[in-house]
Amino acid sequence: MYLAYSSPGRVYLSGEHAVVYGKPALVTAINLRLTVTVEEGKKETKTSFIQIIKVVQQYLTSKKITHSDKSIHLSVKSNIPVGRGLGSSAALSVAAAAALLEFYTGKENSSEEINNCAYRIEKLFHLHPSGVDVSASCFGGLIYYRKEFEFLKNISRLNLKIPKNISDKLILIDTGHPIESTGQMVEMVGTRYNKETSRVEKLLNQIEKNVKQLVVSLMKEDVAFFKKTISENQKALVDLGVVSKKAVGILKYLEKLGVGKITGGGGLKKGSGFILFYAEDLEGLKNHLEISKIPYIPFSPTLEGCKKEL
Ligand code: MEV
Repeated sequence: MYLAYSSPGRVYLSGEHAVVYGKPALVTAINLRLTVTVEEGKKETKTSFIQIIKVVQQYLTSKKITHSDKSIHLSVKSNIPVGRGLGSSAALSVAAAAALLEFYTGKENSSEEINNCAYRIEKLFHLHPSGVDVSASCFGGLIYYRKEFEFLKNISRLNLKIPKNISDKLILIDTGHPIESTGQMVEMVGTRYNKETSRVEKLLNQIEKNVKQLVVSLMKEDVAFFKKTISENQKALVDLGVVSKKAVGILKYLEKLGVGKITGGGGLKKGSGFILFYAEDLEGLKNHLEISKIPYIPFSPTLEGCKKEL
């Protein structure tokens, strides 16, 4: 028996890190996908996949759903850059949850069920995920997300598209692989929060404001407001301590060509992963990046979430 599901990566328009503290986040799924195939009969040997299988089995047990103990083997194919803030581990969590749930229950499961199970898998990658990454990958489209409690998450799939006058001018610029994991970045912000609570709270409130401003800028197709908000959000993330000197340097180097912000957990000592960058003259920017040997990929949002492949 073979089963395969694919799930998209994601980009934070705004709200990373603040979302861990109960603030909202605005995230879009993107046209880069990861596929998990499960195959019956061959025994899995990879430790991380064995852990994922265990989490799904425990999830089913907790829901009193009986499941078989058949040998199973997982394989993964992906074109989402790994560890660069584009949600590759969330896409793995979602596609694996979908494929394994169907394998064990013998039926296709609802997106809600897949999302709940994927959230448990994501905890293998970092201990206190907000859950927005798996939700964006699972449901696709533009997600406005807020976690009130562990048991209460408001996941709104917005009936709104990033307008063409904005999305056509966006690109993803690679500032390099962070050496820190997402979990370590979340922990660093936590330590800072405990030491400088009121300063960090101000920054989190600022980011909450930015998330809401971005929604308004998209609704009004207001490019100037979008750009201003992206810059403010990036400044707050720098002040929060999640952006490296290298990423700040790249943004400074490109400042005459547009504005940008990191997307995801960031990174402090080396790279900070990808930057979402708005450029009035996108072709001019691409030439500039090529001459300067700064890698980039297109920004391509998608409405498509997790889906069955076979
Ligand atoms: C990392 O993908 C995004 C963070 O906000 C953590 C999370 O939401 O779980 C930094």
